Amino acid sequence: MTAAPSPRGGGAPRRPDPCTFVVFGAAGDLTRRLLVPALYNLAEGGLLPEEFALCGVARADLSDAAFRARLVEGLNRFATVAVVPEYAERLLRRVTYLAGDFADPATYRRLAEKLGAAGNCLFYLATPPDVFAEVARGLGQAGLTRQRPGAWRRVIVEKPFGSDLASARRLNRALLDVLEEEQIFRIDHYLGKETVQNILVLRFANGIFEPLWNRDHIDHVQITVAETVSVESRGKFYDATGALRDMVPNHLFQLLALTAMEPPTCFEADAVRSEKTKVLHAVHRLAPERAAQDAVRAQYRAGTVQGRSVAAFRDAPDIAADSITESYVALRLLIDNWRWAGVPFYLRTGKALAARKTEIAVKFKQAPFSMFRDTSIERLAQNFLVLRIQPDEGAALQFNAKVPGPLLRADGVRMDFKYKDYFDAAPSTGYETLIYDCMIGDATQFQRADYVEAGWQVVQPFLDAWHAEGARGLATYAAGSEGPGEADALLRRDGRLWRAIASGPA
Ligand code: BG6
Repeated sequence: MTAAPSPRGGGAPRRPDPCTFVVFGAAGDLTRRLLVPALYNLAEGGLLPEEFALCGVARADLSDAAFRARLVEGLNRFATVAVVPEYAERLLRRVTYLAGDFADPATYRRLAEKLGAAGNCLFYLATPPDVFAEVARGLGQAGLTRQRPGAWRRVIVEKPFGSDLASARRLNRALLDVLEEEQIFRIDHYLGKETVQNILVLRFANGIFEPLWNRDHIDHVQITVAETVSVESRGKFYDATGALRDMVPNHLFQLLALTAMEPPTCFEADAVRSEKTKVLHAVHRLAPERAAQDAVRAQYRAGTVQGRSVAAFRDAPDIAADSITESYVALRLLIDNWRWAGVPFYLRTGKALAARKTEIAVKFKQAPFSMFRDTSIERLAQNFLVLRIQPDEGAALQFNAKVPGPLLRADGVRMDFKYKDYFDAAPSTGYETLIYDCMIGDATQFQRADYVEAGWQVVQPFLDAWHAEGARGLATYAAGSEGPGEADALLRRDGRLWRAIASGPA
């Protein structure tokens, strides 16, 4: 395969070509909370096409004017920056709406009439996942996915992408029936986070980390996505989904893949995505019996999260009283390749935990102690490189330094980089780069079909093991705590400890 040049190129970011942005599920929350504020930020940054039209499609019966009014209201409420009327006008001057049933072919025919001779079209599927395939098929049958010179057709598919390996494969097949892979942009909003994108730059634009980035020097890696939010009003979705499906094959595996991948030969979509996929293929496949031992699933009990009382998971709205859905998951994974053989990657994520914290902590091997045996040094602090994804974005390196004074004593200290000390990034929704990238045709930060399936392949043994176990093996933890004791035991078994979620050195 010859590598296409990166559409990002060098110099200043270019304005994308004219485009009609068609949102399916336009009456939903995602559109007004995230998509329109993100499009607004692009408009303000001069990164929206000069000719831009927005078309909403949903079941609700709305006029163009009512839909537009909703978007204006949403923008004023959810914009991440003060709204300047001139840019809002530029964004919303060509808004139309089409009411229709996604299962009805007439909806797509009417859409085709509405789009007429429109050139480039981006179709954003902000719908419930069970209609992704249906909408793609409808677009295909109405001829809307057919590209011609000067008229690209791209589809952004939201998450969740499948609920297990078989359904992810089915969805890929359904999409690939009507679209080429290069037209499909499977979104993972973690890839829109600057700090996630920075992992590659930190690893590969510096000469100091890469020589140490392997099993000779790294003891283990901890990837944590801890949330303080509980299930809140998402009970229906969450009870059917759980922490593993909701977070692991997508967000946590992106962090895993970026941390563990080999350097790609160039910064081009397929080169980067192939390396990420290879990492997931190299994750040691566990038989379900073994998977149950290397995973912990738990549900929160009532508790207090940062001073706020939180009812037990099973008492949340739309959660079954006898639900065995996990709100917390911890996994121990091994990557069977030359770089990582024998280095455990511990992943954990959960809701209603002690603090909100997403980080990748790389623990280096201990230095030999013998030289300090007859000194006042009793033990050495551990060497951690911590990439803080959110909040307090940055990176810290923990190492030993001599404590001043006549005795030879050592203590752990930190070199700390904070984004906000160096860069003045405007607050964003995290969707800006992703939408922009899709408009310029750069798929680097999107998930390819084989990557998604490789992720589900890793997750499937855990799903199977838990399915077989039923309620057995489901642990609990108090809302507002560090998670279940069983997750501590998972690391203790290997002689290791989790880093604290709520406090401790960042
Ligand atoms: C979503 C999950 O994909 O990511 C949510 O469905 C989760 O359950 C959210 O809360 C976390 O995203 P962020 O950007 O807040 O870390």
